[in-house]
Amino acid sequence: MSIRSYFMAKFYDATMRQCEQACLGSWRSELLQSAAGTVLEIGSGTGVNLPHYSDNVQRLILVEPDKHMRHRLTARAKEPGNEHVEIASFGAESIDIEDETIDCVVSTLVLCSVSDQAASLSEIHRLLKPGGTLLLIEHVFAQQNPSVARWQKLLSPLWRVMCCNCHLNRNTRQAVHQAGFDTVQVEDTQMQEAPSVIKYAIKGVAHKQERRDSPAGVQNPW
Ligand SMILES: C[S@@+](CC[C@H](N)C(=O)[O-])C[C@H]1O[C@@H](n2cnc3c(N)ncnc32)[C@H](O)[C@@H]1O
Repeated sequence: MSIRSYFMAKFYDATMRQCEQACLGSWRSELLQSAAGTVLEIGSGTGVNLPHYSDNVQRLILVEPDKHMRHRLTARAKEPGNEHVEIASFGAESIDIEDETIDCVVSTLVLCSVSDQAASLSEIHRLLKPGGTLLLIEHVFAQQNPSVARWQKLLSPLWRVMCCNCHLNRNTRQAVHQAGFDTVQVEDTQMQEAPSVIKYAIKGVAHKQERRDSPAGVQNPW
């Protein structure tokens, strides 16, 4: 895993460049505009989301368990303007942060790769304050396209080995619902310039239930 994760970290930005330019970059900007207060990002990778956060983020905790990714993330986080950024090595399944202390959790292209998706979502739900939000961009199982779905099922075991535990066939929208979020406002979309097996994606926001006496949370930017 370590050699593969070394190469994944080294070539991640270059591999994703066309897709970033075609769609991901603008999706990140749009989605992360609503991140505010204390924000936790899981699986931050090389730190590609960093330039997309606004000044409304007071504290930004970036969680990245892979040491090669974390090395690049740390270098990027040293750039000016990132004084409010902290980096930790937790996996999303178990994060050493107190209950209900986070305003917003960000997951972009990570819930495909975590070892235990249900445990990760349960941990995210635990950390969020009532009314807090989970902002998501995730590639998912292509239920709406049976031919692609067949290829995803077929290739997923090999893909997992080659691409650091990335699963092609996860139904992440359903998993977010099952984790107990109050509302899940995610739309189906397709990542331009991505191979068919990772093209099908969801983006949007899930809300943890408000306390009865608190004001409304962040609205879906789409
Ligand atoms: C495809 S990359 C996505 C990187 C970045 N979030 C992005 O939007 O481009 C998946 C990332 O998830 C991280 N990851 C894998 N398992 C994880 C886990 N259990 N908890 C948190 N992050 C994890 C990987 O190390 C990698 O950095």
